[in-house]
Amino acid sequence: MLTLLLLSNNMVQMEVVMEYKLGIIGYGGMASWHHRNSVKVPGLKVTSAFDIDPERLKVAAESGLKIYDNINDFLTNGDFSIVLVATPNNFHKYYSVMAMEAKKHVVCEKPVAMNLEELDEMIETSKKNNVLFTVHQNRRWDRDYRIVKQILSENTIGKPYTIESRVHGQNGVMHGWRAYKVAGGGMLFDWGVHLIDQMLYMIDEKVTEVYCQLFSIKTPEVDDYFKLILRFESGLSAQIEVGTYCLEKMPRWYVNADQGSVIVKNWECEGKITKASQIVMEWEPEVVQTVGGPTRTMAPRPKETLEELELPKIQSEWTEYYKNVISYLNKKDDIIVKQGELRRVMEVIEAAFESDKLHQSIKCNI
Ligand SMILES: NC(=O)c1ccc[n+]([C@@H]2O[C@H](COP(=O)([O-])OP(=O)(O)OC[C@H]3O[C@@H](n4cnc5c(N)ncnc54)[C@H](O)[C@@H]3O)[C@@H](O)[C@H]2O)c1
Repeated sequence: MLTLLLLSNNMVQMEVVMEYKLGIIGYGGMASWHHRNSVKVPGLKVTSAFDIDPERLKVAAESGLKIYDNINDFLTNGDFSIVLVATPNNFHKYYSVMAMEAKKHVVCEKPVAMNLEELDEMIETSKKNNVLFTVHQNRRWDRDYRIVKQILSENTIGKPYTIESRVHGQNGVMHGWRAYKVAGGGMLFDWGVHLIDQMLYMIDEKVTEVYCQLFSIKTPEVDDYFKLILRFESGLSAQIEVGTYCLEKMPRWYVNADQGSVIVKNWECEGKITKASQIVMEWEPEVVQTVGGPTRTMAPRPKETLEELELPKIQSEWTEYYKNVISYLNKKDDIIVKQGELRRVMEVIEAAFESDKLHQSIKCNI
């Protein structure tokens, strides 16, 4: 593919951009999203789809793709070098391994696999065949997450001691295969994997303890609410909570650090940073009478001792994920979503299931 680049001095330079073609396994809701957004990624073209559902193949054909109802035919004759695996979770390993054995690079949807054993087989297969194997952890590019990550990395509020990351839904439903254990359903595998990945990618420390409670409030077979607490080696506590039936929602992010707090309320990124101002507070020696009764410790802090800052303005796009994949294949950048990181997330998930089963926290070194 030939791309024209307009340089600052109005000179036009021609650059040959290698085009990578992609074939999709499982042309459902998420795969259609990948297809639609692929046009925003220079050097990427979706050409083909395989699915076991004729209706989905019809949709893929209407969207301009060459369709296959036989996996061997797809992998042998399809015109692509990258495969996206976007089936229900229990088929991720099966198709990823098959595609890598056919010497295709693989982008797999999250959660990468059902357990660590499956993931290790996938990693082994990628090494054996010398192909890329990575996972669509697209929520590393969520704007709310990038804001919190930047605030912490720039040390705006000092050293964090608690980070709370939540996603609350109100409908109490898990759609289709997501409601079944055999398919890898449940919220820990669905949203949990994103939020754990975000946390581990933001905090550069080992996890030393995992505590988790899973609930099935409206979906009998799988977890539709969970609360997970990670203790990092510095003592930092990260709480991740996902629920499908929380009629009152809590903020998406709530962070406390030794010089301030942050709230990011929602995906629209409303919220603020509150910091201790330069004015030194004269501590009130007397008990203060509040509506909640007499207190000194919890008395409201004088306004002039606090400073409110706006959240940083950040632009972030999910398509950056595929831009990185293409750039990696062109040997220009390292891959962002690395296999070792996928392994750590899966280790946390396994410890979380274990913690729920044993009703106790699990000591670890993840
Ligand atoms: N990264 C994200 O933000 C994100 C968002 C949604 C879904 N996902 C992931 O994408 C994957 C697909 O989810 P979805 O919401 O698109 O589900 P979906 O049910 O809409 O689509 C799944 C597709 O796979 C096909 N399929 C089912 N069994 C198959 C098999 N054995 N072989 C081939 N095809 C098969 C179905 O016919 C369907 O077309 C899941 O792993 C899910 O976790 C990721």
